Order: sequence, then structure tokens, then C-alpha cells
Amino acid sequence: PPHPRILGIESSCDDTAAAVVAGDGSILSEVIRHQHKIHEPSGGIVPGIAAEHHLINMPGVVSQAIEQSGLTIEDIDAIAVTRGPGLPASLSVCINAAKTLAAVTKKPLIGVHHMEAHALTVRMSSSVPFPFVCLLISGGHTMSLLVRDVNDYKLLGSTRDDSVGEAFDKVARMLKIPWLHGRGGGPGPALEQLALKGDPDRYQLPVPMSKRDTGQSLDFSFSGLKTAVAKYIDLGQVSLESEQDCADMAASFQYTAIKHLCSKLSKAIAAAKDVGSSPTALVVSGGVASNQQVRLRIGDTASKYGLLLVCPPPHLCTDNGVMIAWAGIERFRKGLFDPYTIEFRQRWQL
Ligand code: KG4
Ligand code: ZN
Repeated sequence: PPHPRILGIESSCDDTAAAVVAGDGSILSEVIRHQHKIHEPSGGIVPGIAAEHHLINMPGVVSQAIEQSGLTIEDIDAIAVTRGPGLPASLSVCINAAKTLAAVTKKPLIGVHHMEAHALTVRMSSSVPFPFVCLLISGGHTMSLLVRDVNDYKLLGSTRDDSVGEAFDKVARMLKIPWLHGRGGGPGPALEQLALKGDPDRYQLPVPMSKRDTGQSLDFSFSGLKTAVAKYIDLGQVSLESEQDCADMAASFQYTAIKHLCSKLSKAIAAAKDVGSSPTALVVSGGVASNQQVRLRIGDTASKYGLLLVCPPPHLCTDNGVMIAWAGIERFRKGLFDPYTIEFRQRWQL
């Protein structure tokens, strides 16, 4: 066939996903099982339980993805899988599924870095040329990068403590916001919805890393912001009984978190231009990039620097199999294959 067709398998955190994507960027199938209902009672993802459900769901998810693509396994050119970073027990499920499938069918195996997949997704449907500046904002990571090519990344800034997604999740938990379920579910989207009804000026929160000693750094930090929210609640200035108080705090937190993202992103863009590269686009992806306020305000920052903002559609910003299959296509074209003996990598620098 003129275009390779690749099966992508993902289970690095709490979603079990598989998809078949073709080299021309068409999505032939897309299957995902969420676990929001399972983890909501504990307020966060319980690793052992996440892995248990991946073990149960993986065979059905993979076989459905192949079936719905209208292809058979014989028609698939390679199998791509999230190799890391992520939760070890979760990663072991997808890596073993992919290795076994590839070894039995004698197909090439492609181990994909989860964040590389988030970064490359946009190239599936628009022609974003290298180099580009990239902001990856998810539950596990918060980083700015210069993407020079497939497999060639320069890290500009990263978080010193919590990720921005974690901060959204923890603040949602402190404010006892019920999660949304299904596609676009979880605590982050629930906080975004509540913030729509709130006043972002009601509570004054400190913008992280803005003082003299840290102001020039490209890094992010979210634990202080989270603590500042907790203090308001402890002092009784946010009553959890009052929906308006909670909405105002959700809006104030979201406003400040985005202000911090935009401020450090500006510095990263300047740094990328300083190292002599001339990016024309800013790519923003990862779960938090499905937030409309984030997209809007980061868009303003991008245009201030003459960059075109490109984001995947919201459902491809959060974890999915399509992004792994697409990263597989990009690596396939470069001949970047892996042996059937690879192991997952819990921690893995891009
Ligand atoms: O990329 P992702 O699906 O998984 C990781 O690789 O971590 O990101 C999940 C994170 C979670 O913290 C989730 O609450 C957050 O992204 N998130 C959001 C929104 N949608 C997902 N945060 C804020 N607003 C949203 N709309
Ligand atoms: Zn992710």
C-alpha cells in the first residue's frame, strides 16, 4: 500500500486505548475505555486498580480497533506502543500486548515516548513543519520543548514539582467538585465547567515563579499555587457549602495557573529563538490543552510572538491510541524500530 497502516496501543495511565492510523493521516479506527467511574471515589488514580482494568480491557480494545478498521492483522504494517513514561503496572500491560502481537505476526515493533506522541499528533491533520515550539501540559508532565525533528527534542522548561494537570485535579478534589464521566471526563474538565460560573478576581493567588530569583527561569511550579488554594479553604474564606465560593475559587485558580503557563511559555519561545532556530508554530497538547480557556489565552501569547497556535482536537489532547499510532507512522518513516525484547520505561527523558 502507498501509506503504512499502523496499530497503536496505549495504557500508560488510566485509559486503555488502541487505534489504526494510515500514513495519509486518516484514522481507520479508534477505541478507548475510560476508568473515571472507577477512580472517582478515591479522588485520584489508584495504580493497581488501573492496571487490573487494563488487563481486563486490553484484548477487547485491541481486537475491536483492528475489526473496526476494516483490516485484518495481516494488513497492518507495524505495531506501535507507549513504552513510557507512566505508571509501571499500566505500562507493562500495553508493552506486553504489543510485543506479543508483533512477535507472533512478525511485524515491526515501535516503542513510543508518550510525550513525543502528544507532541506529534497535530502533524497527522495539518502540515506543521519542524522546528516548532511545543508546550505539553498533562497529568504527568508540564514541559516546553523545541521540537527539531522526530526523535530530536530540546527540553526548554519543565515543572519543579506538580504538573499543571495534577494541580487541576488536586484543586478539584479540595473543592469537592464531582467528576465528569466518559469522553472529556475526570476532575480537570469538571473544574473548567465550574469556573465558567465563577469570578476569577474574587481570590488573589500568587503567580508561581514570578519573583526576582525565579522570574527568569523557564521552569514551572504548581505546588505553591495548590497550597495557596488550600489555605483559603482552611481559613474558611472558601465555604465548600457555597457553590459560588467554589466556582469563584475554581475560576481564580484556573486564571492564575494559565497566567503562569503563558508567562513561562513566553520565555521558552524567546529561548527557542535565541538558540538560532526559527519556529513558525506553537503546538500545545496533553490533557490540559483540551481546556478552552487555556487554548484561548495561550493563543494570545502565540500571536504576540508571531507563532501560529496549533492544537489537536480536544479528544486527541487527552490520552488516546491515535496519537501512539501516528507517532508510530512518523518513526516508521525514519526506520526507527525496536526489538521484541524492549521493556517499559517508567521514567524516560525525551
Ligand atoms: O494527557 P492526559 O490525558 O494524561 C497524561 O498523560 O497525564 O492528561 C490528563 C490530565 C489530567 O490531570 C486531567 O484532569 C487534565 O489533564 N485535564 C484537564 C482538562 N481535561 C483534562 N485539565 C483542565 N481542563 C480540562 N478541560
Ligand atoms: Zn498523556
